[in-house]
Amino acid sequence: MFSDLLIKRLKKAKTVAVLTGAGISAESGVPTFRGEQGLWKKFRPEQLANFNAFIENPKLVWEWYNFRKNLIRQVKPNPGHYALVKIENLFTDFCLITQNVDNLHRLAGSRRIYELHGNIMRNRCVDCNKQFDEILFDDENLPRCDCGGLIRPDVVWYGESLPDDVLTKSFAAADKSDVFFSIGTSAVVQPAASLPVEAKRAGAYVVEINFEPTVITNYVDESIIGKSGKILPELMKRILND
Ligand code: OAD
Repeated sequence: MFSDLLIKRLKKAKTVAVLTGAGISAESGVPTFRGEQGLWKKFRPEQLANFNAFIENPKLVWEWYNFRKNLIRQVKPNPGHYALVKIENLFTDFCLITQNVDNLHRLAGSRRIYELHGNIMRNRCVDCNKQFDEILFDDENLPRCDCGGLIRPDVVWYGESLPDDVLTKSFAAADKSDVFFSIGTSAVVQPAASLPVEAKRAGAYVVEINFEPTVITNYVDESIIGKSGKILPELMKRILND
């Protein structure tokens, strides 16, 4: 399943960076965005994950986020998330860059996490930017900050920039990584999709783990087809036993 070259590169590696997408949480029961069962087959991102949509109809957007939060509250990290925690412990310089907002990497125990698209369990005021953790409210009384501003989920919406510091750190990590993993992402949403490309350009051994081939499969050094919840624990064992 894994090439000897990958194991050799990992054994020698000082710096490992991992990019994850919705696929790593699929085995926990969190729906992905694309594909037949994906969220974007049933819902329109421009109506829900969009600032103008929020200002026009905050209730609808909050309903959508409350629906996803409720779903996420009921799920747990899976063996793929836990294997990444163990893999983090094996390297002096490791970072986990995620496009997921579902908080599952944190729940699993990963420590150095760069959340490119925010975190659905955090919220912030659209006016003064004050941050709020869990907030409870009913559909009729939308949450508001002390300053009067509407409170929104602290996630990145279409057309918005990614948090500057997180993006800078993520590209720096890709740049200096000896081995870079792209796991459970369709690798089509920018700028995250440029990270494996940047890593390879800078000399990393780039590995993709995905249920099916993606747009970067022919570009990476090694493509491992299968479920991350099965492959990552096996990879961890192989690194330890070799
Ligand atoms: P996608 O839904 O685009 O892709 C999920 C990927 O996971 C697909 O390539 C699947 O083949 C793969 N996959 C599914 N189950 C898997 C499993 N068990 N093991 C391994 N791979 C599996 O999700 P993302 O690439 O994360 O952005 O989407 C990127 C961004 O698009 C999201 O962060 C979100 C969305 O619009 C924002 O909300 C800003």
